[in-house]
Amino acid sequence: MKSYIKGMGTYVPDRIVTNDDLAKRFDTSDEWIRQRTGIEERRYAEEGIGTSDLAKEAAVRAAADAGIEIEQIDFIILGTLSPDHHFPGTACYLQPKLELAGVPCLDIRQQCTGWVYGMTLADSLIKTGPYQNILLVGSEVHSHALHFDDAGRDVTVIFGDGAGAAIVSPAPEGSERGVLAHALHADGRHADRLCYRLFDISRIPLADAEYLESVENAWPYMEGRHVFKEAVVRMPEVVREVLASTGHTIDDIDLLVPHQANLRINEYVVSSLGIAPEKVINNIQRFGNTTAASIPIALDEARRNGQVSQGDLVCLVAFGAGFTWGAVTLRL
Ligand code: COA
Repeated sequence: MKSYIKGMGTYVPDRIVTNDDLAKRFDTSDEWIRQRTGIEERRYAEEGIGTSDLAKEAAVRAAADAGIEIEQIDFIILGTLSPDHHFPGTACYLQPKLELAGVPCLDIRQQCTGWVYGMTLADSLIKTGPYQNILLVGSEVHSHALHFDDAGRDVTVIFGDGAGAAIVSPAPEGSERGVLAHALHADGRHADRLCYRLFDISRIPLADAEYLESVENAWPYMEGRHVFKEAVVRMPEVVREVLASTGHTIDDIDLLVPHQANLRINEYVVSSLGIAPEKVINNIQRFGNTTAASIPIALDEARRNGQVSQGDLVCLVAFGAGFTWGAVTLRL
């Protein structure tokens, strides 16, 4: 038995924030941001709107696209690095918004690789369990926890808010559609190079004022160059690995959907793999890095604009905090 994507949905907040808007708040420029990252604008949620709210809108759209009623969803997997609360998981806040009491809920905290890990998990649950319609959603509201100051500018300019979702179901019998292979990795020796230590409550008492006053602890911390250097090696490596596991080659790929962290990273990946740029989707220019949501948002856009069709070979590839990385191949 195979699992396949039955339907997809995207939701991004209406509010567009341009590079020039950011340059009014701290020392940066449209030129710097475009040149280093390719980003032109991103979306920000309004105050009071959280990750589970965006996830709900994407989920409703994915169910409609799949032609199912919300109540047919029988498992919820949610990837995020910007949870509604430290605990419980954000899937538990999404579930009542969808009126799905009783349906199992699972958060995965694999950051930018969240949706690739989630797709692997959904595929395994379909193959081994009784599930018919798994909601897999990546959702992020970063904008409420970014440092709008010169000290946080390297991180702040990159991230945006948004959600992308899929309904993952057993593939129709005899169909060529469905997940073909996955390859997942992690190397926690790099965990402290891209992290958010604010909720370090198992090690440091939350009331430790000195700890909280440190900029490195109070705001997301990133060693950008180190992340960049690892990403451009790990992403092509894992694409080759996942293709080799089913005897496919780079030429067989109809669409590569890379995580949208930095357009320059993706340009390196494309040239390293030797894949034609028209077989790759990039939309970071308009959304920034939406972490766990970036792959479903990009894949959904490619489906809707005709860049990919049913039955095409699609390769999803991501790299992110942890470090974690992975790839999935599927026939759409
Ligand atoms: N605007 C203007 N100047 C900025 C800036 C900003 N937003 N952010 C950093 N700078 C400055 C730095 O202060 C530094 O100035 P200095 O030379 O006077 O010290 C200079 O630009 C270069 O900084 P550096 O951090 O070395 O830049 P970089 O070329 O590595 O680019 C990133 C920074 C963040 C764009 C880049 O490292 C990157 O994208 N890395 C990957 C990050 C990533 O993918 N994260 C998501 C995880 S999946």
